[in-house]
Amino acid sequence: MYIDNLLLADFRNIAMAEIKLNNGINILYGDNAQGKTNILESVYICATGRSHRTKIDGQLINFGKREAHIKAFIVRDKRTDRIDVHLKKDEKKGIAVNGVPIRKSGDLFGTLHTVMFSPEDLQLIKNAPSERRRFIDMELCQLSNVYYYDLQQYYKVLKQRNNLLKRIQKNIKLKDTLFVWDSQMCQYGMRVIDSRGAFVERISTISSKIHSCITEENEELVIEYKPNVLSCDFAEKLASSIEKDIMYGSTTFGPHKDDIIFYVNQNDVKIFGSQGQQRTAALSAKLAEIEIIKTETGQTPVLLLDDVLSELDERRQYYLLDSIRDTQTIITCTGIEDSIKRYTEKASIFNIKNGIVDMRHT
Ligand SMILES: Nc1ncnc2c1ncn2[C@@H]1O[C@H](COP(=O)(O)OP(=O)(O)OP(=O)(O)O)[C@@H](O)[C@H]1O
Ligand SMILES: [Mg+2]
Repeated sequence: MYIDNLLLADFRNIAMAEIKLNNGINILYGDNAQGKTNILESVYICATGRSHRTKIDGQLINFGKREAHIKAFIVRDKRTDRIDVHLKKDEKKGIAVNGVPIRKSGDLFGTLHTVMFSPEDLQLIKNAPSERRRFIDMELCQLSNVYYYDLQQYYKVLKQRNNLLKRIQKNIKLKDTLFVWDSQMCQYGMRVIDSRGAFVERISTISSKIHSCITEENEELVIEYKPNVLSCDFAEKLASSIEKDIMYGSTTFGPHKDDIIFYVNQNDVKIFGSQGQQRTAALSAKLAEIEIIKTETGQTPVLLLDDVLSELDERRQYYLLDSIRDTQTIITCTGIEDSIKRYTEKASIFNIKNGIVDMRHT
């Protein structure tokens, strides 16, 4: 699939823009703080219903304005879908697909698939476990409505359980009601754990092949799921930690504390890897995501590369650009780098200056 046309109104620093994209490589270049990432952010919102940078929708609206609009036309096979996002200052945003309002993000998933690649993603291995959970969750949610539902329910129940734990501290009688939440925690939690396990195994198999290619077979990458608790032990662990949970007012065990570990040549790359090794392992995992989306949906996702080329050495830049030949890609950069020059013949190039998008005719 690819985005044919993207229209923005009062989104961040972009007052008005119509960006006619080509189905191959699109380059957004310009100085810092001009609006390049803002454009990628708007695409990401069309795919997932939320920003990758903020939870506060109001921040997405041009300073001083009360609302903002994003409109995207997505082509797949022979049909075109339209996604409309209407952001409002103090109200919930509205999203519609082909003019029909959607009730929850789950209904949006699948209309547009993206894989976003930002400098922070290259830090995936160094970052906190929550970022690695997010990496798995965002992808799984886009691919499976069931997972999205299970995960949402799990976090909802977790929040309610934690609230109750704090109330039990003051009123011990309430302890008898804890089992209601515990059985629901197990029900959703076990499904989350099992789905994550299966997904990480797939990512590991595919990314290990990619990693081997990028490193000319010098490095073997294995990604391992590290569940905080096995799904078969969840109920027991939950029951055994009740006293501790009450004391701290929070839940000790569960998939909200999961992690994934990256091994390169059998060493934990977070501890032993160089910065370059860590970035390459993250790159391999991201590229594996593209493969999984292709297999699962039969569609190529739109790839959003935010400033990542400058973070990679030339060999990795070429590998990345070579491996995405059949994928619509939107690349941001401050200058047109050598590696991109090879592709600029076919690429559409846009200059972004102070929120104004100017298409360059080469
Ligand atoms: N709600 C908003 N209204 C108006 N302008 C905004 C809003 N939010 C952010 N901006 C402006 O957008 C600009 C940042 O845009 P963006 O992050 O897209 O920059 P960029 O071109 O990607 O830069 P860099 O190369 O540094 O990553 C800043 O100047 C910021 O002040
Ligand atoms: Mg940027």
